[in-house]
Amino acid sequence: MIEVIIDCDPGVDDAIALMVALSSTALDLKAITTVAGNVPLALTQANARKLCTLMGREDVPVYAGCPRPLVRSPITAEAIHGITGLEGATLPEPTVPLQAQHGVAYLMDALTQSPRPITLATLGPLTNLAAAVVQCPDILTHVTEVVMMGGGIAQGNVTPVAEFNLYADPHAARVVFEAGVPITLISLDVTHQVLTTPDRLARIRALGNPVSTIAADLLTYYGNRDREILGLPGAPLHDPCVIAYLLQPNLFSGYSAQVTVETDSPLTLGQTVVNRRTLPPHCPPVNVIDQVDADGVYALILQHLASP
Ligand code: BDR
Ligand code: CA
Repeated sequence: MIEVIIDCDPGVDDAIALMVALSSTALDLKAITTVAGNVPLALTQANARKLCTLMGREDVPVYAGCPRPLVRSPITAEAIHGITGLEGATLPEPTVPLQAQHGVAYLMDALTQSPRPITLATLGPLTNLAAAVVQCPDILTHVTEVVMMGGGIAQGNVTPVAEFNLYADPHAARVVFEAGVPITLISLDVTHQVLTTPDRLARIRALGNPVSTIAADLLTYYGNRDREILGLPGAPLHDPCVIAYLLQPNLFSGYSAQVTVETDSPLTLGQTVVNRRTLPPHCPPVNVIDQVDADGVYALILQHLASP
């Protein structure tokens, strides 16, 4: 079993990622920490608890982390995910309580006290992890790997060059990329290959159970918004790619590179800058994923949504 903590900002695609993770017997999901991102923190933590309730996983604790980015002013993505963050479907009211401890304090405690290293799956802005690293750099020796959805090498989705998670807190991203921890980066270059075509959406809906129906309803709303606002032909499954990578890394391939994030330029704030040339020895290379078996990812998602 892979021991993992998911840090997220649900968000429709975070929700599909959580549905898969919460139904997987291959993941030992220690906790979900939430951050302000797609919608404000009060909604992301409530949405995570609704998803645990929907999936019958009252055993997974949910923590609220940072309510705003480190330096820049907050941005949100209601235009894509709706005002609640999970527009298009009605989820059950949460029966899972919000943990009293702050999400950043939890990350520091959980990592330093774990007898084994833990994988971190980050699906939102990196504020929580950066705050934990700044306060307690030793936590990094307890991290197997950070598997991150973030960045866009060929293009952005908020500005021409910046992707939402890195643009929402570029300074936090910089802290994480400079921390020296192993990172696998799943960017828009990958997730835009994993689009919810009408046929894939129909197959999710045809599963016909309460979880798959909610997934199909959420993806219908989110797909329409992605089409109208970003001109995409279908909803990209950004965050589920992180969980798919944990469960079936053979579906993905990439290359090693040095990755940095722009934090100063108003024009290119949050841009992912990838250096594939000779790597300076002090910078651990990032595993930059650029290829994905999209049909394999959908098969994995269907398999989990079929028996949630
Ligand atoms: C990322 O931004 C959010 O809107 C999504 O949940 C995903 O994590 C894609 O740019
Ligand atoms: Ca997200």
